[in-house]
Amino acid sequence: PANKKLLMLPGDGIGPEVMREVSHILEWLDRRRIASFDIGQGLVGGASIDATGLPITPDVVDRAKNSDAVLFGAVGGPKWDKMGFDLRPEIAILTLRRELGLFANLRPATVLDPLIEASTLKPDIVRGLDIMIVREATGGIYFGEPRGIETLPDGQKRGINTEVYTTSEIERVARVAFDLARQRQGRVCSVEKANVMESGLLWRQTVTALGAAEYPDVALSHMYADNCAMQLVRNPRQFDVIVTGNLFGDLLSDLASMCTGSLGMLPSATLGAPDSSGRRLSLYEPIHGSAPDIAGQGIANPLAQTFSLAMLLRYSFDMKEEAALVEQACLAVLEQGLRTADIMQEGKTRVTTMEMGAAVMRELERLAA
Ligand code: NAD
Ligand code: IPM
Ligand code: MN
Repeated sequence: PANKKLLMLPGDGIGPEVMREVSHILEWLDRRRIASFDIGQGLVGGASIDATGLPITPDVVDRAKNSDAVLFGAVGGPKWDKMGFDLRPEIAILTLRRELGLFANLRPATVLDPLIEASTLKPDIVRGLDIMIVREATGGIYFGEPRGIETLPDGQKRGINTEVYTTSEIERVARVAFDLARQRQGRVCSVEKANVMESGLLWRQTVTALGAAEYPDVALSHMYADNCAMQLVRNPRQFDVIVTGNLFGDLLSDLASMCTGSLGMLPSATLGAPDSSGRRLSLYEPIHGSAPDIAGQGIANPLAQTFSLAMLLRYSFDMKEEAALVEQACLAVLEQGLRTADIMQEGKTRVTTMEMGAAVMRELERLAA
């Protein structure tokens, strides 16, 4: 079979630092002849701005469209914070989601046993936690029109963003959530603010109708987003699949990450609609950003990026065994007590990004032997 085409976009800050560890895993899979990849590299975010003046170039967007999967690091940083709004590094990831039609952002939050004590929540609250947040990623207030900053006659300025959802946008992301629930515990909680926003009310009505018509076997519940934030801290295990809009999904997934110990642990997959041949554009990235506060120090946790690769292998390349192998290697390293600073606990061994990456490689070798 033809080699799988993979585009790596490391980006800024800790993006390239954690991506480097993941590239060792890809080289290893290649060397062991487990899989062959056609790997491309590209610039995004501040790195692209410095080289080309743009946060992402049309060429990179095209190459992403022509790849079987994109592995994205993170973009942004103080160096580029004063750029014009349309030239900010963050435009790179928003452009990719939008141009590739990647509307379903899957953000799993699972608590690994060795990290139960690393969570800021009590062990009994998070033990065994396994939730899936399905965040809509190409609509809502991130993309709604009108938007902008305008000057009023009295000289004041007005900043405008608009939350917009159509029934078809809601239905397609809700389908992803319902389908996932069928493979899990069969429960979907749909989250919006139908009490204050018409877009939220339409969301609730649309998800309700779809659930009744096509997914009567899935238990559907509804929750206001503010309550959901509270419930995620009070009793996160009440949830199986959460489906929500772009902005609420962004907030709730960062929140959920702390149940698992660290933002540095959580991967994500962002999927488009399958085409007639079943091919589905997809991008994988940690949910964290470029972490300017620790960038350059070599202490970032590479596991969110590593788990993102595992999701890529599973969802895009149908390499379930290899995906499980990568996840088991990460778990084994944590069981041995190795910890980057963000998940450090008393009595454990503090390691750097590179040491964590090397330990994962050692475990891969051992598990595959
Ligand atoms: P952030 O996610 O970069 O960092 C938040 C906090 O978590 C920081 O204290 C950071 O050190 C820590 N952290 C994040 N990832 C970590 C890791 N792997 N290991 C250890 N600690 C980690 O969020 P922020 O500071 O609000 O944003 C920084 C920049 O990143 C901004 O420019 C923002 O727009 C951008 N950002 C980009 C993406 C993306 O590219 N998808 C996502 C979020 C934020
Ligand atoms: C994320 C990030 C992005 C978002 C930013 C960088 C545009 O926070 O992927 O969670 O808000 O979607
Ligand atoms: Mn975010």
